[in-house]
Amino acid sequence: MGQFDGQVVYITGIARGQGRNHALRFAKEGASIIGMDIADRVADHTTYPAASADDLAETVRLVEEAGGTILARQGDTRDLAFQQQLVADGVERFGRLDHVIANAGILTWGLTWEMTEEQFTDVVDVNLVGTWKTLKSSIPAMIAAGNGGSIVIISSCAGIKAMPAQASYSASKFGLRGLAQTAAKELGPQRIRVNSVHPYAVHTPMGLEDSQAIKAFQDWGRHFPSMMDHYPVASVDDLTDAVVYLSTAVAVTGSEFQIDMGETKV
Ligand SMILES: NC(=O)c1ccc[n+]([C@@H]2O[C@H](COP(=O)([O-])OP(=O)(O)OC[C@H]3O[C@@H](n4cnc5c(N)ncnc54)[C@H](O)[C@@H]3O)[C@@H](O)[C@H]2O)c1
Repeated sequence: MGQFDGQVVYITGIARGQGRNHALRFAKEGASIIGMDIADRVADHTTYPAASADDLAETVRLVEEAGGTILARQGDTRDLAFQQQLVADGVERFGRLDHVIANAGILTWGLTWEMTEEQFTDVVDVNLVGTWKTLKSSIPAMIAAGNGGSIVIISSCAGIKAMPAQASYSASKFGLRGLAQTAAKELGPQRIRVNSVHPYAVHTPMGLEDSQAIKAFQDWGRHFPSMMDHYPVASVDDLTDAVVYLSTAVAVTGSEFQIDMGETKV
């Protein structure tokens, strides 16, 4: 018996990192997965390696190897029609929609007045507008299913405490809190809970393979430390544990759940 037996979850950004781990865990716990990833370079100013179509195929292989069922497509969260069609096809195939994990996101580095227009608008388009499109694509199906459910939005500690050299990222991740709180208020009567998650560094390519981050740390390092030097980077399981908790915690909505080793309080 899995804790999501018979349920269906829509997850964005599943090719690798946190999204892949969420897909695997939910599948192992009995959920059918509707998943998507751009699986390609999102913008030319990101400074860590992009996910690939092979990464997305590997997520599908891992989910199926674990005995799960998955409908996965390559696409962009900025494409509303693509997300709406994917969710519609997933609901037709699996019969309902119970959970959403709005996880896809990108990061770029630069001082507020030095970053390019693309560095600002691309990050806000993906992280904030793209996440709104994820909600717009999925909430009607959740309401129609009438089973209540949960939406988890992956923000960042940078959505609670602004980070230098991350103007567009911090602005987009702060914006997600407003989106989450608004949707939580609107969806309470439908028994659909909406919460945001705020990680510090996570063991993924975005968290670990970013050469520009190291450069930015040198100049602005005093703003970044957490309370726990002995545990500088959370695991993807730390994040999935939080997402599973929020997806099942019937008394929790509108919360801003920090997996940040205390960083936002320093
Ligand atoms: N890694 C960290 O240190 C960290 C810290 C705080 C918050 N976060 C957030 O966690 C979430 C997951 O990131 P991760 O750490 O797994 O990074 P990651 O780069 O390993 O994975 C992100 C995935 O999202 C996909 N993606 C990006 N833009 C997309 C788009 N427009 N459409 C579809 N797919 C898209 C990427 O292709 C990639 O597979 C992101 O929202 C990120 O901002 C990460």
